[in-house]
Amino acid sequence: MRILVTGGAGFIGSNFIRRLLREHPDDTVVNLDKLTYAGNLDNLRDVEASPRYAFVKGDICDPEAVEKAIVRLGGEVDAIVNFAAETHVDRSISGPQDFIRTDVLGTQVLLEALRERAIPRYLQVSTDEVYGSIARGAFTEESPLRPSSPYSASKAGGDLLVLAYRTTYGLPVMITRSSNNYGPYQYPEKIIPLFATNALDGRPLPVYGDGLNVRDWIHVDDNCAALDLVLREGVPGEVYNVGGGNERTNLDLTRAVLELLGLGKELLRFVPDRPGHDRRYAVDCTKLRALGWQPEVAFADGLARTVEWYRDNRWWWEKIKSGEYRRYYAEQYKGLV
Ligand code: NAD
Ligand code: DAU
Repeated sequence: MRILVTGGAGFIGSNFIRRLLREHPDDTVVNLDKLTYAGNLDNLRDVEASPRYAFVKGDICDPEAVEKAIVRLGGEVDAIVNFAAETHVDRSISGPQDFIRTDVLGTQVLLEALRERAIPRYLQVSTDEVYGSIARGAFTEESPLRPSSPYSASKAGGDLLVLAYRTTYGLPVMITRSSNNYGPYQYPEKIIPLFATNALDGRPLPVYGDGLNVRDWIHVDDNCAALDLVLREGVPGEVYNVGGGNERTNLDLTRAVLELLGLGKELLRFVPDRPGHDRRYAVDCTKLRALGWQPEVAFADGLARTVEWYRDNRWWWEKIKSGEYRRYYAEQYKGLV
């Protein structure tokens, strides 16, 4: 396949490109990425020399940039996989505008390219957060969308556009909605890389509220396997939930990270809660399992390998945790050093 990946310099996108090049020797990939604060070409250092990979810097909201990436693929595209998004809930609370722009308008620009070029497959990488919080049980793909944050509302907007383009123009689109990913190359604003790197530096780990919010963790390799499967075997027009089946409270997760680094709870700090903080996410993945997917990474093992990766790859995150990041951190965590 000739695949246009957008947002491939981010966490999941870079892991996905690595998988495509490894598992599909006939695939070629063009990565269109704006390189926002979260985009990082270091994430793809090991594959950047591949003759089957090319990078194009550009914004998915700009139709000319999308066209340029398509031309870079030789003008023939078999699929678009859209990872490009503003992705951090806390940043969406302090400044929602970029989220609406990229996650909604950017999606629409890609859908127009699909329509104009009659590209045969489109995969929208979405999130379980579009369903909102659930106290018991799990959301299916038929559950209503009740997003709580500007981030999840903008992702829901993108999803609705994708489905509307299916209904109106019959486009060959699919959506995955995954739970919280963890693994290597995740920007250290999300809880696992933030807490692992803070702990490695002896800095406090700021737990929001009572720490009893629950997230369902999936290793990024398991999500990438799901995305790859849906891309090739998914049914156009369908939505697929992707969950790891590893529900943990933030407090349990924090204790596990500290334990893996041989630290006690001295570094744990309770800080004011996130506004509109969803209590629990959970998705039913029966539909995806019927396609032949199941998660392979046991959480204890995946978390241990992930913490080890951050311990062994300071070169990757020390650069990030300077400049813009420091300003963001000071503003977000007011006085916590
Ligand atoms: P990330 O923040 O690590 O990466 C996002 C990438 O998109 C960056 O490389 C950034 O430069 C790029 N980008 C942002 N705006 C762009 C624009 N206008 N044009 C082109 N590129 C742009 O995000 P991630 O965690 O890898 O998430 C990837 C996708 O998966 C997102 O759509 C996100 O909503 C979804 N998702 C993430 C998770 C998770 O736990 N991380 C879970 C479910 C769904
Ligand atoms: O559920 C999928 C979503 O998971 C993705 O769509 C998002 O892109 C991704 O960012 C993630 O959203 P969360 O808000 O769940 O991730 P985050 O790592 O920011 O927070 C996870 C939990 O940890 C959440 O309950 C808030 C809490 N938390 C987070 C941070 C950054 C803290 O207690 N302290 C913190 O400093």
